[in-house]
Amino acid sequence: MASKSPIRVSVTGAAGNIGYAAIFRIASGAVFGADQPVALNLIEVGPGLNALAGVVMELQDCAFPLLTDVVATGDLDEGFKDADWCLLIGAVPRKDGMERKDLLGINGKIFVGQGQAIARSAKNSVKVLVVGNPCNTNALIALRSAAGLKEENFFAMTRLDENRAKSQLANKAGVHNSVVKNVAIWGNHSSTQYPDFTNALIAGKPATQVISDHTWLKETFVNDVQKRGAAVIKARGASSAASAANAALDTLRNLHFATPAGEWHSVAVLSKGDYGITPGIMFGYPIRTLADGSWEIVKGLPVDEFSQSKISITEKELLEERATASEALGLKL
Ligand code: LMR
Repeated sequence: MASKSPIRVSVTGAAGNIGYAAIFRIASGAVFGADQPVALNLIEVGPGLNALAGVVMELQDCAFPLLTDVVATGDLDEGFKDADWCLLIGAVPRKDGMERKDLLGINGKIFVGQGQAIARSAKNSVKVLVVGNPCNTNALIALRSAAGLKEENFFAMTRLDENRAKSQLANKAGVHNSVVKNVAIWGNHSSTQYPDFTNALIAGKPATQVISDHTWLKETFVNDVQKRGAAVIKARGASSAASAANAALDTLRNLHFATPAGEWHSVAVLSKGDYGITPGIMFGYPIRTLADGSWEIVKGLPVDEFSQSKISITEKELLEERATASEALGLKL
């Protein structure tokens, strides 16, 4: 057993498809490293609790050397107790033909109670990543409900879009996806998001130099990344699970370890006005994690007219979602 004190990760929807694909990898050390013990607080609701008992049996059966403790519960306060990280996955997923924001009425209220319980029971330094859709606005709801916690510790996942974008760019350029870097996802994790190819690098060169077909970049690429979640739902008959879990774990890792020099990763944080975005919405930005565990938005990236027009569309949608959620929940978000 390694000597560091464990990182306690609370996971909602722990027995669901995404949760099931995530927790074994957290327990294995694949997120926080091979010398970092972890403890898991697994949270489920109603019928999910039976399945959760089976998941706990499977965790035992893995005999993970780094896993120090497992709590399985339907109670939010017990589930978030002493958490260092809360991974908020549990939510109703969308079906074919829906936009993610159509889930706001169903899922939004869950995040009020979760935000409140996190504030009551987790560590004061807790970090919260929202995966359940519509994740940006759900994260805003959780943040605004979590009195006393730091705004900068709330995040919504855009890393799945970043990974999708990298894979599409690599495929088009005929290179391995590992050489595609610095793909910012601006705005909402929705079909208005803007996967920014103008600042992306492929093997160290601007993506716009490597891929000469700029119509493909502006139209096919942007559209395909925006609609990839819907395409997965159509093909699978269910929304993405393993890739969503993978992106959630990439996000935790990206926010835990310092970002390599010259690089960035994508995650949505509370806007304070950077790049002219209205303050007070959870907006996808290019982010760098610093050695002390804090993060900063990458400053001074060029935003051309095309990018600006796309960024304005996704900003407008997030403002509309905030207004809808505020009204539905009777909250000042
Ligand atoms: C995704 O992007 O695959 C997930 O957010 C699920 C969805 O509704 O698209």
